[in-house]
Amino acid sequence: MSMQTWSNAVVIGASSGIGAALARQLAARGAKVTLVARREERLLELSAQIDAVHGEGTAGHIVHDVENGSEVEGLWKQIVDARGEPDVVVYASGALELVEDHEYTFEKDRRMLAVNLVGAVAWLNCAALAMEAARGGTIIGISSIAADRGRRGAPVYGASKAGFTTYLEALRNRLSQYGVNVMTARPGFVDTAMTKGMDGLFWLVSADRAAEIILGHAAKGGSRDRYVPARWGLVGFVVRWIPSFLFRRLSI
Ligand SMILES: NC(=O)c1ccc[n+]([C@@H]2O[C@H](COP(=O)([O-])OP(=O)(O)OC[C@H]3O[C@@H](n4cnc5c(N)ncnc54)[C@H](OP(=O)(O)O)[C@@H]3O)[C@@H](O)[C@H]2O)c1
Repeated sequence: MSMQTWSNAVVIGASSGIGAALARQLAARGAKVTLVARREERLLELSAQIDAVHGEGTAGHIVHDVENGSEVEGLWKQIVDARGEPDVVVYASGALELVEDHEYTFEKDRRMLAVNLVGAVAWLNCAALAMEAARGGTIIGISSIAADRGRRGAPVYGASKAGFTTYLEALRNRLSQYGVNVMTARPGFVDTAMTKGMDGLFWLVSADRAAEIILGHAAKGGSRDRYVPARWGLVGFVVRWIPSFLFRRLSI
């Protein structure tokens, strides 16, 4: 089986964690990468690291807050004009706000929906349109095992990831006929800023390991929905099949 290769990547949410690891590994696989996020100092640092290893101009960056979805069409055009048509687009931006048992704070919930779902739609709609026209390309969305059930501890984080997962499935169903591969990645616990200081984490993997697994699946081509690492699939399977009347008694 021939492995998929890429020459022109865009990574949204590239300033840290899984997105930064994916950007580094895409460059190592031979792609130039456009890094997108809000923290410019992080993007400049990563860009310099990538260029030092793979050559000047391998990395470029755009400072952007994904809450400003109306900017994305213009940014997409800017990327295409400056660096050519992307053949792989990764959406890794994510926000996890911790909420207490009795807390319903609209601003936290609005932000999670904006970053995890609405921003993803803004970017991946552009990617879908361009890749359908090009009759090829790869879209990778970093969802979460949290998409699998409505957990009492994270109502809106879970809802945003469930919405993102459903959107990615629909993109896959639309685009596979045009040779565009859409991959959903559902990580379990990954050692990044998002999980720093959290108690009770298990099966924790590094961002580099998560990125390696994700790109390993994506490079096989085809359209995929994968737990990262695969053992989380067992958790997902069990959790999905627990009847609702039992699930509501669990403290997860
Ligand atoms: N860590 C885990 O255990 C885990 C598990 C399952 C799924 N995930 C998912 O994996 C993805 C990456 O998270 P991570 O664990 O690598 O955490 P992270 O290190 O905190 O990375 C989050 C990324 O999202 C970007 N981001 C956040 N708000 C943004 C905004 N308004 N505009 C643009 N970019 C924004 C951040 O960039 P700036 O702050 O510079 O903008 C950063 O690059 C997320 O979607 C997360 O939900 C993580």
